[in-house]
Amino acid sequence: MARSLTSASQLRTALLAAGTLAFLMAGALAANAAPQKNIVVAMAQPPHAGDATKGAQIFQRCAMCHKADKDGANGLGPNLFGVVGRKAASEPNFSYSSALKSSGIVWTDDKLGVWVSGPAKLVPGTKMAFPGLSDQKQIDDLVAYLNSRK
Ligand code: HEC
Repeated sequence: MARSLTSASQLRTALLAAGTLAFLMAGALAANAAPQKNIVVAMAQPPHAGDATKGAQIFQRCAMCHKADKDGANGLGPNLFGVVGRKAASEPNFSYSSALKSSGIVWTDDKLGVWVSGPAKLVPGTKMAFPGLSDQKQIDDLVAYLNSRK
């Protein structure tokens, strides 16, 4: 009898734990639902293969120097909100290198991809001290993320 009581209470504990887990999972799914929808919209607009969500993680490597927020401040590098389609070196309150200012670049997806794979190769004399990404998938994801910042 004592034994079956124990197993009954064990069963109850197990059921309670399972219930809590299901509850937590449902909560996590609900919390994710809205951002996921936004990401789908963001990716549907630019004809780009990258994944903006993964790109946001890769942007952590840029974030020590760059923000990409509306009205965000410049840091060691210029704010990158709305950078796609922008003329290079056009953030008004940032002191760019003359190399970038005279580059004549407009930041298309392709140009951004080349830039993040080696800034100094695209614009010798740039002051962006970043060695460059080599993984094309990461580059695509990052460019997709930059496209979503507008
Ligand atoms: C060590 C600091 C640093 C890191 C890390 C860095 N940048 Fe930069 N970035 C700069 C600086 C400084 C400039 C300005 C370059 C110039 O004037 O020649 C710049 C310029 C740029 C520009 C041109 C913006 C414009 O207004 O024309 C883009 C785009 C850019 N960075 C993207 C990135 C991305 C994406 C990453 C991450 C992969 C990254 N940067 C990492 C410092 C950095």
